[in-house]
Amino acid sequence: MGMMARQQKPIGVFDSGVGGLTVVRALMERLPNENIVYFGDTARVPYGMKSRDTIETYTEEIVSFLLGQDVKALVIACNTIAAVAKQKVLQMAPSMPVLDVIKAGSEAALQTSHNRHIGVIATSTTVNSNAYAREIHSRAPEARVLSQACPLLVPLVEEGWLDHEVTHLTIREYLKPILAEDIDTLVLGCTHYPLLKALIKQEAPDLSLVDSSVTTAEATAIALTQHHLVNPDHSGADYRFYVSDIPLRFRTIGEHFLGRSLGHLERVALG
Ligand code: DGL
Repeated sequence: MGMMARQQKPIGVFDSGVGGLTVVRALMERLPNENIVYFGDTARVPYGMKSRDTIETYTEEIVSFLLGQDVKALVIACNTIAAVAKQKVLQMAPSMPVLDVIKAGSEAALQTSHNRHIGVIATSTTVNSNAYAREIHSRAPEARVLSQACPLLVPLVEEGWLDHEVTHLTIREYLKPILAEDIDTLVLGCTHYPLLKALIKQEAPDLSLVDSSVTTAEATAIALTQHHLVNPDHSGADYRFYVSDIPLRFRTIGEHFLGRSLGHLERVALG
């Protein structure tokens, strides 16, 4: 295959459901010429409370689907998948760049923090996996990582309660223990949390927030350049969205996450 044909292939982005569209949104802004194929496992979401074994099996199915779409790179947009199944993805796609939100978020946190006390909020599976702490400590062993699982936040965001009193109270409660630890940086370690940025800022005005969707898009741009995979074709990018179910209100919620119309949306059965 010629160089140009390889460069024109899409980037495969995947998530447990709708949340990964925050990463697609950041990719569209940072890399407007790149074609994107998205897969969201909406039939089996949420992953955030599931075991490693189950998530690995689901991940295998998703990655097989995306490899069948002839992608040139993979972006793990889901923190929970990145936390427990990244090795599986690397094994399945050894010859292409694989980016993920945890690596990008950890690097950004270390660049942002002055006192190296870093807070991480995420799903229960991500927190229990210790993946953020491992990634941060591999670069800065002296850093302190304070993690807090926030399982109620995903449903609140999906309900659209982005500025609701209940969400304010929930965030205040979750942040209390980690704010007591003198952190100066907070990693939004879940696809849904970038939508709560304004509200978290109100509850913790002195913290620097790390939005891993933006940092992952930046890391993807760097990887594509390094691998000579940047799409030179400027005639307009193609976006395709695949999901394992199209639940009620999916389009509306999805467009909220993506910040624009979803366009080509198709259901595919996995497994
Ligand atoms: N996408 C998941 C994450 O970033 C959140 C939703 C879920 O639990 O599946 O961790």
